[in-house]
Amino acid sequence: MATPRTEAGPAAASPPALWDPVVRLTHWGIAAAVLLNAALDEGGSLLHVAVGWIVMALLLLRMVWGVLGPDEARFAAFPPNPLAALRHLRQLVSGRVRHYSSHNPAGALMAYAFWAALATVTVSGLVMTGGATPMQVAADKAAVASGDWSALIRDSEGESDRDDAFGEAAEEVHEVVANLLLILAALHVAGVALESRAMRRNLVAAMLTGPRQK
Ligand code: HEM
Ligand code: HEM
Repeated sequence: MATPRTEAGPAAASPPALWDPVVRLTHWGIAAAVLLNAALDEGGSLLHVAVGWIVMALLLLRMVWGVLGPDEARFAAFPPNPLAALRHLRQLVSGRVRHYSSHNPAGALMAYAFWAALATVTVSGLVMTGGATPMQVAADKAAVASGDWSALIRDSEGESDRDDAFGEAAEEVHEVVANLLLILAALHVAGVALESRAMRRNLVAAMLTGPRQK
C-alpha cells in the first residue's frame, strides 16, 4: 500500500486531539443506549422506554451543542456535503490524506445520518407509546400488576398502545430504522478504523481520553 501523503485541510490542520466532554458524553451515551435497546432489551419494556428517553435527551443536548459548543463541535465545522464525502473517500483510496479541523466530510455525513435515524426511531417510539414518560409507563405497569386494568391502554407486555394504521406504521418504521442504525454503526466503526490507519492517528482515543502521554 502506498505511503499516505498528508495535505492541510481548508481551515485548520488537524482534528481535536481530544473532543470536548459534551461530544464524548453524548457519543458514548448514545452508542451504548442504541446497542442496549437494539440487542438486549425487550421492545417497549420500561427499561427500553427509559433508555430511549435518555437517547432523546442526549440527542437534544448534542443538537444544542452543535450551535453553542466549541468550534470543532459546531455544525458549521462539518457541513453535510455528499460530493466532498465522495472526494474524501477517493483520496483515501488513492493514499492521500487530507486533514480537517472537525469530522472529515465522510464522517460528517455519517454523523448526520445517525442523527436523522435516531430522531426517527425516537419519534416513532413516542408515537407507539402515546408520548408516555418512563414514570407514566412505570405507573401503568404497577397499576396493571395490582389489577387496575384501566391502565391497560399502555399495556404490561410492552406492546404498542396504538393499534390503528398510524400506530402500525410507526412500529414498522421503528424496527426498520433500528436495524438501519446497526448497519450504520458497523460501517461507522469500519470507517473510523480505516481513517485512523490512513491518518496514523488514533481517532478513538480522541473520543475517549486523548492521546497517551509519553
Ligand atoms: C435508541 C433508540 C431505540 C432503539 C435502537 C430501539 C429499538 C427497538 C427494537 C429493535 C424494537 C423491536 C424489539 C422487539 O420487538 O423485540 C423496538 C420495539 C419497541 N420500542 Fe424501541 N428503540 C429505541 C427507542 C425507543 C423509544 C424512545 C421508545 C418510546 C418512547 C421505544 C418504544 C418501543 C416500543 C413501544 C416497542 C414495541 C413495539 C411493538 O412491538 O409493539 N423505543 N425498539
Ligand atoms: C451505535 C453505536 C454508535 C453510534 C450511534 C455512533 C455515532 C457517532 C456520531 C453521531 C458521531 C459524531 C460525533 C459528534 O460530533 O457528536 C461519531 C463519531 C465518532 N465515533 Fe461513533 N458511534 C457509535 C459507535 C462507535 C464505536 C463503537 C466507536 C469506536 C470504535 C466509535 C468511534 C467514533 C469516533 C472515533 C468518532 C469521531 C470520528 C472523527 O474523528 O471524525 N463510534 N459517532
